[in-house]
Amino acid sequence: MTRKFHVIGNWKLHHFMEDSRKLARAVLDGSRQYLDSMVVGVSPVHTTLWAVHGELSDRPENFWLVGQNAYHENEGAFTGAVSYRHLKDAGCDGAIVGHSERRRIFRESDDEIMAQLESAIRAQLHVIYCIGETGEEREAGKTLDVIERQLGEALRHVPPSGRQAIKFIVAYEPVWAIGTGVNATPEQAQEVHAAIREIIAGRWTSEEADRVPILYGGSLKPSNAREIFSMPDVDGGLVGGASLKADTFLDLVRIASEVAGK
Ligand code: PGA
Repeated sequence: MTRKFHVIGNWKLHHFMEDSRKLARAVLDGSRQYLDSMVVGVSPVHTTLWAVHGELSDRPENFWLVGQNAYHENEGAFTGAVSYRHLKDAGCDGAIVGHSERRRIFRESDDEIMAQLESAIRAQLHVIYCIGETGEEREAGKTLDVIERQLGEALRHVPPSGRQAIKFIVAYEPVWAIGTGVNATPEQAQEVHAAIREIIAGRWTSEEADRVPILYGGSLKPSNAREIFSMPDVDGGLVGGASLKADTFLDLVRIASEVAGK
């Protein structure tokens, strides 16, 4: 297997300073034994990033601090914005781009998300690029069309440097599974993950497609993770609710490490 497993906790708008530092420390200590063979990451609220970066100053290369999202411009008259360069400056190793909550709640357009993708790669961050269909789109049989559109466009925006350094990670997150308690079945996840890898192979090369980690996200928890992680094209998870407590998240990390040699 040429790809590493990745388990990334997306804390969204949860936890203030002290709890963020404590949780980050607990996750680093609890996952250290697995970090030779996999990547573990935490993605706290922007205002806590620098403090969490300090807390994690002894983290090895495979433990990532991940920014949740940012604006595509690096500087200027953009009140309230944070740039990907600022995320890097605050100590981030990676960043999430295109999360469905950004697309839906914050009404970020495809163009804005593509500009963010380029900006995040230019800032030398590992990009976790999220795609996924809504429940309506799935029911209408449009899942693979949506994936093709969201992914195809992104693949055109990743420069060769982004491919070579394995800076580009895909997260398949069906919108209907996020925060709902209803996860995709392992078969549903595998079907889309295999399609994602095929699309990448078609646009780039099959060697490159083989190297891109494809994470599943959407109501992942210890009780469903093993089956989903066991699928051949699932290379880990982007975890929301189950990442907010150290013990639950570390269960997911352990399960991933057990499955990683599949
Ligand atoms: P969830 O969120 O695990 O709470 O469903 C996943 C995500 O939005 O990344």
